[in-house]
Order: sequence, then C-alpha cells, then structure tokens
Amino acid sequence: MKRHVVTGGAGFIGSALVRALLEERDGKVAVIDNLLTGKEENLAEVAGRFEFHRVDIRSYRDIASVLRGADTVFHLAAIPSVPRSIEDPAPSHEVNIDGTFQVLKACVDGGARRVIYAASSSAYGDTETLPKVETMTPRPLSPYALQKLVGEYYGSVFHSCYGLDATALRFFNVYGPRQDPSSPYSGVISLFLRALIERRPPVIFGDGEQSRDFTYVEDVVGLVLKAARTEGIGGRVYNAGNGNRYTLNEVWRVLQELEGVSLPARYGPPRAGDVRHSQADIAAAVRDLGHRPAFSLEEGMKRTLEWQMQQVLRT
Ligand code: UD1
Repeated sequence: MKRHVVTGGAGFIGSALVRALLEERDGKVAVIDNLLTGKEENLAEVAGRFEFHRVDIRSYRDIASVLRGADTVFHLAAIPSVPRSIEDPAPSHEVNIDGTFQVLKACVDGGARRVIYAASSSAYGDTETLPKVETMTPRPLSPYALQKLVGEYYGSVFHSCYGLDATALRFFNVYGPRQDPSSPYSGVISLFLRALIERRPPVIFGDGEQSRDFTYVEDVVGLVLKAARTEGIGGRVYNAGNGNRYTLNEVWRVLQELEGVSLPARYGPPRAGDVRHSQADIAAAVRDLGHRPAFSLEEGMKRTLEWQMQQVLRT
C-alpha cells in the first residue's frame, strides 16, 4: 500500500492537502508537524484517519523513520512570512534551509519515490516584466525569499546528484479557510477579512497599488496533486498561481462591496522586502501538469469570509 507524507500537514495549506489526499483514498497518509504554526484543530475533521508525528524537520533522526519508503513526500513545512524573516532571520533560516536539507537527505537515504516541494513566488523579487515565468533569473529580496529558493536549488541538486525525483512548485500568495488571521505575519487577505468582520479599517503598507496573484487554497492543492501524478518532472520548477493579479486597494474595495460597508483603509509606510507586483505565468503548469485554477478572487474570498465568520461565532 502506498504511503504519502505531508510535512507541515497541520498548517493552513498542508491540512487542506491532507484532507484531499484522504479523499483520494490512494494510500496511507502521515503528517509531520511540530505545531509551531500548525494546529491540530486544522485536522480535527479527519482525526484518526492519518498518522501524526509531532516532530521537527530539523531533526534528521526524528523524521528519517517517517520518510523511509514513502511514495510521495509533500514538503510544506516552513516558517513563512517575509517580514518575520526580516525581523528575526535565524529561525526561518534554520527551518526553511536546514530543515529542508534534512527532509531531502532523509528522502534520499530512505528511498522515498518522489518529493513535491512548496517553493515561493517571492523568489522572483521585482522583475521588469509580468507575468513572471519560470525561466526568469530569481532575485530574492528578503531572507524568506532566499531561503525558499535555496530549498528549490537543493531539490534540483539532489535530483542531479542522487536521482531524487524532486519538483518545486512556487506558490503565489495562497489564501483560504484556515489561514490564521491572528498574527501580524498573517497573509493579507486573512487580515483584511478579520478587519471587515470587526468593522474596522485595515492597514495597507505603502500606497496599496502593489499587486499579488492571490491563489485559492483548493486550486493550489489541486495542482500539487496533479504534479504528484505527473512523471518525468524531477528537478523542475513550476509556478503555482492563478494567473491574475489584484492590487491591495482593489481587494479591499471588493471586500467592502461584499459586505456593503464603507471603511476607508489606513495607509502606513511600505514594508521592507516587499515585492511590488506579482503575477504567475501559468502556461508551463497548464501544459505539463494540467493546471486549471477554478476559483475567482471574489468566490475564494466569499468562502474564506464564511469560514472566518464561523470561527467568530464559535468563540
Ligand atoms: C510572500 C510571497 C508568497 C508567500 C508568502 C509567505 C511574494 C510576492 N509572495 O507573500 O508567495 O506565500 O510570502 O508568507 O513575495 N500588507 C498590507 N497590510 C497588512 C499585511 C500585508 O498592506 O496588514 C501587504 C504587504 O505589504 C504586501 C501584501 O500585502 O504588499 C501581501 O503581503 P503578505 O500577505 O504578507 O504576503 P507576501 O509578502 O506578498
């Protein structure tokens, strides 16, 4: 019987992937998570249907036995956030670079069949042209961007040196239910939705004309599963985005319209390490992996708003 492992499986994206894998019924599922940012409640609905290992990816000893012989290892565990990596770079360096190295090394040593790595659109930095295509030279602007890029490079080097079948997917600003809005490092859509529910203005860093390719979590999970089923893509990198881009001013306007309120945003200084515009060229993912994003920003935000409302009602 096949066995799939999801590192970071209790996180916002990881838990969505775990639920999707369990729905596919294509083998057993094991989760590795140290619950630093992940939460067991993200997996409450499917509790008991997967193995859970509360271990840290920096510890080779702890993860090696879980990864041994795995069919697919989905490596999503990370300390996310650009500003967090600027304020305190050591923890994210250790998890995102050293931890990724330990995961890949354990995959090679333990004969894991393949690895799908959650890379980041931040690797591109500011480019002169849009959309951003995989052949562009990366220009990381923050420790986080560099760390995620090093993980990609390690995957491709382990592919060429040790034959590890590792593929990197550059996630573009993923949002959706279960994204935690309670930290200053949370994704902007989760923070905007919380502000909307609490009927207070959000803070926009800079002029709000920066743009992002916001990608709904189910679209990303769908692509991750497609990549896992595609043969012959070891060592490659693909954009995992929606292909559109919206400015923060547009996002906040749409959210106010959704709720029929008028709450002009407050503007603060631009954030260090911020990329100006981000938009994925998804042609390669469409062609090679069958990528087909299905959620418009409005639909995705409606679903996420609904989830956040339910959370408020529960507390
Ligand atoms: C970056 C990556 C993304 C990755 C994420 C992980 C890019 C283009 N994207 O996201 O792929 O998944 O890191 O953490 O590098 N903002 C506000 N007000 C707020 C919070 C944020 O205006 O309260 C602004 C930020 O300045 C930024 C935008 O919203 O311009 C998005 O910020 P955020 O959600 O933190 O994600 P990125 O840093 O873009």
